[in-house]
Amino acid sequence: MLISGRGSNMAALIDAAAERDFPAEIAVVLSDTPGVHGLAVASAKGIPSSVVQRADFATKSAHDAAIDAALRSFDVELVALAGYMRLLTAPCVDKWRGRMINIHPALLPLFKGLDTHRRALEAGVRVHGCTVHFVTPDMDDGPIVAQAAVPVLVGDDEAALAARVLKAEHQLYPMALRLIAEGKARMDGGRVVFSGISDGASGSISAPAPVAQDLDVEHLARITP
Ligand code: GRF
Repeated sequence: MLISGRGSNMAALIDAAAERDFPAEIAVVLSDTPGVHGLAVASAKGIPSSVVQRADFATKSAHDAAIDAALRSFDVELVALAGYMRLLTAPCVDKWRGRMINIHPALLPLFKGLDTHRRALEAGVRVHGCTVHFVTPDMDDGPIVAQAAVPVLVGDDEAALAARVLKAEHQLYPMALRLIAEGKARMDGGRVVFSGISDGASGSISAPAPVAQDLDVEHLARITP
């Protein structure tokens, strides 16, 4: 897993993977920034971690090559970016094609890039959310694995909206990782192909149950103009 900061999504994945029936284990956490909160959390949860700093390498390619080597030294099979705030170079991304995922705090393809919550409020959207997608060389552009929607409420500021989306992120990312680790979601060209999802409900991919349960009828009425 790659992080740059707070590591709350990282913690959600570590906690999910600690459950007995989870089909993946977290091998290592790498941070491009020393001293971040996520590193302390990883250590407290007993996950090996390491800092691979950009400043220690002459070029971006050399930095990415070091990250790639560190991941391989831990026999990593799937890389989860969890608040990793750097674009990886295309050769590095290509090596992990179909085996690298990211979580983005918006309903892609809307609001790629930074400041998604501020931009969602400015745009006046009534529904916002988060997306787990496979990573491709273009930023926030890869095939979508799963999304969770949250309402934008009257009176929301950036912090309130960010907190609502983050709660959904913590539910969505483990669910998406599970789908991929179980072989039920895989990247096939520019799309994600699903298989073996027995309930047949696309809702199981588009929104985890706890988020859906948060939306009672009164709530929905308030977000539907
Ligand atoms: C999350 O909102 C994630 O979607 C985005 O960066 C933020 C990281 O937060 N890519 P955290 O480090 O997981 O708490």
